Amino acid sequence: MFSDGTRAAGLTLWLAMLGVAHAQSLPADGDTPPFSTLYKWKYVDFEFPSHIHREQALITKKFIPMNVLPLGIEVFGSRVWVTFPSWRGGVPATLATVSRVGGHPSPLLRPYPDWNYHRAFNENQNCTGLTSVFRVNVDSCGRLWVLDSGQIDSQDNPKQICPPSLVVFDLYTDKLIARYAIPKKYVLQDSLFANLIVDTRTEDCSDLHVYISDTWRFGLLVFRERDETFWRFSHHLFYPDPLASNYTLHGLNFQWSDGIFGLALTPIDHNEDRLLYFHAMSSYREFVVSTSVLRQSSRVNNSASEFNLAGESRGLLGQSSASAIDRRGVMFYGLVTRDSIGCWDTEKPYQKKTSGVVAMNRETLIFPNDIKVDQEEQQSVWVISNRLPMFQAGPLDPDDYNYRILYADTMEAVKDTICDPEIDLLPPNEAVQRGWWS
Ligand SMILES: *[C@@H]1O[C@H](CO)[C@@H](O)[C@H](O)[C@H]1NC(C)=O
Ligand SMILES: *[C@@H]1O[C@H](CO)[C@@H](O)[C@H](O)[C@H]1NC(C)=O
Ligand SMILES: *[C@@H]1O[C@H](CO)[C@@H](O)[C@H](O)[C@H]1NC(C)=O
Repeated sequence: MFSDGTRAAGLTLWLAMLGVAHAQSLPADGDTPPFSTLYKWKYVDFEFPSHIHREQALITKKFIPMNVLPLGIEVFGSRVWVTFPSWRGGVPATLATVSRVGGHPSPLLRPYPDWNYHRAFNENQNCTGLTSVFRVNVDSCGRLWVLDSGQIDSQDNPKQICPPSLVVFDLYTDKLIARYAIPKKYVLQDSLFANLIVDTRTEDCSDLHVYISDTWRFGLLVFRERDETFWRFSHHLFYPDPLASNYTLHGLNFQWSDGIFGLALTPIDHNEDRLLYFHAMSSYREFVVSTSVLRQSSRVNNSASEFNLAGESRGLLGQSSASAIDRRGVMFYGLVTRDSIGCWDTEKPYQKKTSGVVAMNRETLIFPNDIKVDQEEQQSVWVISNRLPMFQAGPLDPDDYNYRILYADTMEAVKDTICDPEIDLLPPNEAVQRGWWS
């Protein structure tokens, strides 16, 4: 599981402090170096209150295992959060946790914070629970920001049963602390709020903002916690590229015109500012804007030139899903049509020769959907792969491992590659040899 003894010792100490005996990943571990597989599932199953509850949920079709797709991921302390959007019927819980420690290859998921928040046991919750969670993000004050679309059966017969909302939990007490409905005027017809990222710089998080991408209506929403205010705007760089909207993946051809989706924040710079790197899903390009622009509602519509293209195109098959940046400024991103995780040191120009591949695997990395970097002193990058296009096209094979959670130490993952901040730009010849974009 570990590439050297020092790291293993460090982690063991950390686990001992958490009161956990030892971490253990799967025998299939070596499949995706430098990543380790924490868990893999053929289908998702939950910790029901009892065997009878589970049987009942299966009979009443409140639980249809092959309809439950893990989508988003987040990691904090000793737990990993996984989201399950209610795209089809039979999703009994939309947010759940598993232990970060591993050991069991395919553990049951534990609904978060408990079953009372989820539809299988609380259908008349009157929007006090969770309906359909897409993504989650933890702030630096131990609070989980949950993006709930409020819509069920989205794939077959969409029903908006609650307003799209941000729901906030305190991870030290697991209590709900706030719920902010996105104002109606910012929810357009067919809006799809697919991703969020929390931005805070002060120790007490009093300056917290959340950026939310509307992937189908090509907008960005900003939420300022201090006065509980939202604003919305659009920009032409949020639109999909029609030439990148034709996907072919393991023989499956499909068309997605998904706009702005991937959101990643750089570390705080010498001006106490951060950059937001963003991209449409159906695009080969990366863009960037200073968050000081986003944070002032009066500026977002009058600063078109502050939104910029970052360097070169990723080229054919360069569509990217989620992205995340570690404390050293290294970006990790999912390359969904290449079964790969890419990397880039944000201190270098965004070019073919400065871009690397951390891992590629035609089995374990089919559609790397979400990516997060955790808050530990020694950070890890976390990936969930879920075969989303195959899930949408028809039932996945319940005898195959369809979903995986993988992790890697962020420093080890890029060591001695062009993504390593310690490595300067390579001379041109070598760059060509190591290049992977054709
Ligand atoms: C839901 O709760 C609100 C506020 O408590 C109340 O006004 C409303 O009537 C409730 N709706 C249902 C269907 O129970
Ligand atoms: C889309 O991709 C498929 C498979 O590569 C190809 O056959 C088709 O011509 C493409 N369509 C367009 C409009 O580019
Ligand atoms: C920006 O302009 C659009 C279109 O006029 C408007 O709907 C939106 O509310 C504006 N946003 C802000 C923050 O002013």
